[in-house]
Amino acid sequence: HSLQSLNTFGIAATARAYLRVTKKEQLLGVYADGAWVSLPKLVLGGGSNLLLTRDFDGLVLHIALEGKELIGGDEQHHFVRASAGENWHAFVQWTVDQGIGGLENLSLIPGTVGAAPIQNIGAYGLEIKDVFHSVTVFDPGTGETRVMDGAACRFGYRDSVFKQEGRHLIILDVTFALPKQWTPNLRYAELAAEPDLTSPRKVADAVIAIRRRKLPDPAVIGNAGSFFKNPVVPGAQCAALLERFPNMVHHAQPDGTEKLAAGWLIDQCGWKGKSLGAAGVYPKQALVLVNNGGATGAEVVALAKAIQADVQARYGVLLEPEPVFI
Ligand code: EPU
Repeated sequence: HSLQSLNTFGIAATARAYLRVTKKEQLLGVYADGAWVSLPKLVLGGGSNLLLTRDFDGLVLHIALEGKELIGGDEQHHFVRASAGENWHAFVQWTVDQGIGGLENLSLIPGTVGAAPIQNIGAYGLEIKDVFHSVTVFDPGTGETRVMDGAACRFGYRDSVFKQEGRHLIILDVTFALPKQWTPNLRYAELAAEPDLTSPRKVADAVIAIRRRKLPDPAVIGNAGSFFKNPVVPGAQCAALLERFPNMVHHAQPDGTEKLAAGWLIDQCGWKGKSLGAAGVYPKQALVLVNNGGATGAEVVALAKAIQADVQARYGVLLEPEPVFI
């Protein structure tokens, strides 16, 4: 089964078997069936945080569970639940169109609702964890379904339990707690500089405009968003670097560490707009690697390694990839 249209990098690769999961019972069936149990599995949502470096000799479970609803609330929050296969951006716009704010800063992020908690998606001053209520997961080990709260998910920067010990869990739906009393989240300076941010809709539109200016549309040019995480380094290492590179972009973290801008580091190494084979660095944002047409996973990996080596040599910082490599 071809996976080319199922990964936003648009890389040509195949899977031995493929199942589109539209009902939870299908998962029970897969994990109860002797023929399927032993095959390696790849759980796929929108394929927007994935780099395929080879064919997958196993079963792809394409999570296509649908449904979204306002399920109630408490004094301060609306509780909104969406199934894992819902398109993230469409879900965010649906909440905003009902006058429910809280997710608008995360407009236009590619992928599905179910993938969002895995890497605690974040942009423009907001992370999923800030508006998270709970998640329903299927545990293939026990065949059981359970609900996990935010603490159990152990969210961190582009991280959660679902990238660590909870890797085997399959997310079925996600519930968000969205504020009844809305105020715009203007923590991110470039967003705060936009005019008239007086409603969730207006903030969503501003975020969409900023993203369109800076980030490639995966429907037009293959990519997986930020290819590297922004590295977090000890305060002392950052201070030493600033002596040599006074313009280096850095953001102090509450625990005394400093988050550096991977895009800035890559840009300074001269990689912006450069290519290696059919894999390239997006000319408007050095943090995004792109498929300029017909790139293989190996070409993207080669480009990523060359960038990592240059940044390491110049700044002594190892850039960690953000997408999952297969
Ligand atoms: N910069 C450069 N050159 C570049 C790119 C960036 O000098 O080519 C500088 C910018 O001028 C800025 C700094 O680096 O001073 C940071 O850049 P920016 O604010 O554009 O954001 P980012 O750190 O590159 C992060 C997220 C994005 C998210 C934006 C906005 C990560 C890995 N990336 O990018 O998330 O949209 O902030 O909040 O944390 C994603 O994860 O896929 C993603 C797109």
